[in-house]
Amino acid sequence: MVIFGATGDLAKRKLFPSIYRLYQNGRISENFAVVGLARRPWDDETFQENVRQSVAGANSSDADLDAFVSHFYYQSFDVTNPSSYHGLNGQLQELEGNYHTEGNRIFYLAMAPEFFGSIANNLKEYGLKDAHGWSRLVIEKPFGHDLPSAKKLNNQIRAAFSEDQIYRIDHYLGKEMVQNIEVIRFANGIFEHLWNNRFISNIQITSSESLGVEERARYYDRSGAVRDMVQNHMLQMVALLAMEPPIKLTTEEIRSEKIKVLRALRKIDPETCEGHFVRGQYGSGQLNGQQVGSYQQEVGEASATETYVAGKVLIDNYRWAGVPFYIRTGKRMAEKATNIVVEFKDIPMNLYYQDKEKNPNLLMINIQPNEGITLCLNAKKAGHGSVAQPIQLSYNNTGVHGINTPEAYEKLLYDCMLGDTTNFTHWDEVANSWAYIDSILNAWAKKQPDFPNYESGSMGPKAADQLLEKDGFHWWPISEDTKEEF
Ligand code: BG6
Repeated sequence: MVIFGATGDLAKRKLFPSIYRLYQNGRISENFAVVGLARRPWDDETFQENVRQSVAGANSSDADLDAFVSHFYYQSFDVTNPSSYHGLNGQLQELEGNYHTEGNRIFYLAMAPEFFGSIANNLKEYGLKDAHGWSRLVIEKPFGHDLPSAKKLNNQIRAAFSEDQIYRIDHYLGKEMVQNIEVIRFANGIFEHLWNNRFISNIQITSSESLGVEERARYYDRSGAVRDMVQNHMLQMVALLAMEPPIKLTTEEIRSEKIKVLRALRKIDPETCEGHFVRGQYGSGQLNGQQVGSYQQEVGEASATETYVAGKVLIDNYRWAGVPFYIRTGKRMAEKATNIVVEFKDIPMNLYYQDKEKNPNLLMINIQPNEGITLCLNAKKAGHGSVAQPIQLSYNNTGVHGINTPEAYEKLLYDCMLGDTTNFTHWDEVANSWAYIDSILNAWAKKQPDFPNYESGSMGPKAADQLLEKDGFHWWPISEDTKEEF
């Protein structure tokens, strides 16, 4: 495995600990080597020490750490210089001999996207991708910043690698409970038969974060919440929730059902955008009892970048006509949590509600920090009378599988080694997502936002609540009700 950007944050926080866990649980054997590339003039020892610290900081165990880090090598690398590629090729051939890796190579681009295209082409031009085994290219986001730039990037990469050799990472697709959406839906008659516009009134997807943008301000200010979270993670969750059952559990069949959903997303009309999408930016506020500054203080200048977005996504197909998928995501919100709430239509005449308070049935899919599902039902309140009260049936995945739940990157790296692209985003998914996102961004471009418009530590701007209220709904709490252990 060759990691471009090996001294960066992603490699340190996610990749090294994930490779270590794969090594520890026997998913990879002794026959592997990792070559880290970056500009810094490090040697193998410095790199290995860095890997060691990253693994020790992220894992409770450090068994076999010396043996593990001995598989790591480093090259100071200039991505624009042919001699860097020739040097790398020589080293890879030598390592392939020593470690019997049969010429199989993974090139992982964990670095600034402006170099993705040229690196891919150089890998081809200097013969690195044509060793005698397979070659795979793993790419981190952002994949473009709109549809035209994504197309351009894709054309550059496709000039060197074929679609089946490209692994576009969306780390949400490696999360246990995101993968579970498909199973919960298609392995349970009680859900799948009701999973349509006759029985579901709306679906809510929230991914809230309490952190601000911190040291990523430079990247983030050019991106914003829609590009950073909605184009990829949020729309992928929408696709998994809305797709038709695949006819087989193959990559092609699953992907083709997801693509159909993304193609059916109703584009945002600039005239009515305000009634469908709300953007926000955090001001100062209180978070965990501490006073925190505003986004503009963090980036150090006036900015019109959104750090929050809530939207009503409509899917124009037979199953979902008329059912809003409300999504919201933002920085510096009250808490860090990702969850999905499927709200079922209430029965026409519920005689058991007290004080007209409605408690429709909900299926909550808790993605993080708790992993599990909660089903909210009504049952009789003990005692006299026939009054319904809400009750919950909960399953806590973390409670059952504990620390064995693999981390998203660990699963995705393993899939890549096996050549399974199911949980990676195909170009058609990227393109259709961007087409939808561009319709929002174009509508927003016509009007200057009035920022900041939500306090740090809140759940976002008021307008995000009104988005649902005018349809007769409200956001369900994202975690308080679902925190109990199973
Ligand atoms: C990344 C975004 O893709 O996802 C970040 O670039 C965001 O801004 C992160 O913080 C959220 O991921 P998770 O797994 O912590 O929900």
